[in-house]
Amino acid sequence: MASLKTVLYLGVCMITWIATTADDNFVPKAVHWMSLDFKTILTWTTTAPNCTYTVLYSWDDGDWMDCHDCNEVSESECDLTNYLIPYDRTYSADIKARHVTMDHIDDLGDLPHTFSRQFNPYKESNISAVEFTVEAVDESKVTVNITNPLTSIHKHGKQLSIRDILKNDLQYKISYHKSGSTGKKEIISESSMAEVSELDAGQSYCFMVAAYIPSRPKTTQQGAWSKQYCTRGHPAHELSLGAWVGTVFILLTVLIIIVTVTVLCCRCCQQRSKILHTSQSSAPV
Ligand SMILES: *[C@@H]1O[C@H](CO)[C@@H](O)[C@H](O)[C@H]1NC(C)=O
Ligand SMILES: *[C@@H]1O[C@H](CO)[C@@H](O)[C@H](O)[C@H]1NC(C)=O
Ligand SMILES: *[C@@H]1O[C@H](CO)[C@@H](O)[C@H](O)[C@H]1NC(C)=O
Repeated sequence: MASLKTVLYLGVCMITWIATTADDNFVPKAVHWMSLDFKTILTWTTTAPNCTYTVLYSWDDGDWMDCHDCNEVSESECDLTNYLIPYDRTYSADIKARHVTMDHIDDLGDLPHTFSRQFNPYKESNISAVEFTVEAVDESKVTVNITNPLTSIHKHGKQLSIRDILKNDLQYKISYHKSGSTGKKEIISESSMAEVSELDAGQSYCFMVAAYIPSRPKTTQQGAWSKQYCTRGHPAHELSLGAWVGTVFILLTVLIIIVTVTVLCCRCCQQRSKILHTSQSSAPV
């Protein structure tokens, strides 16, 4: 009785297994490349439990290569960061699913699988928001010092920044506006140190920065905008002590000049009219 049960149970299992195989339940779905600052992860979804996945990759339509970190893994993601080198190539991935009940002798070629879309990390990896500082050079000029975001990639013991990878293709967009006004201006800087000039003296300005890679296709040219940073201004009514003293001094000087001129003029006039008076009275009638 017990053995009959086992046989029946096995039979049901087999049927279920065959049914699910026929179904394309095992095929990985919704395959996505997620890439930020050149850390690139391939993700997919699955409805079949107890499957393991093996990821193969190729570049420029070459041979399929093994990705040792993603061999028979049970997670539905694979970090391909260290495989997609050189960065400026077109990569494809192939995700193969194997159910635990499948024979390991099965050729990889027979397994249910899904191809990813093609992906080029150099052109498509998103760039995160940058950090920067703003320092005044003089009343109408500031320097913007931008920190190149770090990647998770190490080379010769050094953690690479996006500048190490993008080199001269990396530029920065700096957007700024007078605080309280909506009129925005934008400049593009080829280096990580930028100068913004022709600012109105004493005004507070707000700055935002984003990585900008003009060599890329339009949709991936710009990185995320940074947080906004505003400088402190000196509004006109907050004149310094020196300016007040200067203004009062000038006003006093002008007043003294006016008074002096008026007094001198009056004296002059009085004298002239006196002379006129005497000359008139001394004239013979
Ligand atoms: C880049 O970011 C955009 C917007 O958040 C997103 O839609 C896209 O999938 C991302 N691309 C990659 C390769 O991660
Ligand atoms: C998946 O595996 C677990 C244990 O490894 C088992 O308990 C479960 O029944 C399995 N599920 C399927 C649908 O095979
Ligand atoms: C720019 O900022 C970085 C990091 O904050 C700092 O190490 C560097 O000295 C700054 N450069 C200048 C010229 O201020």
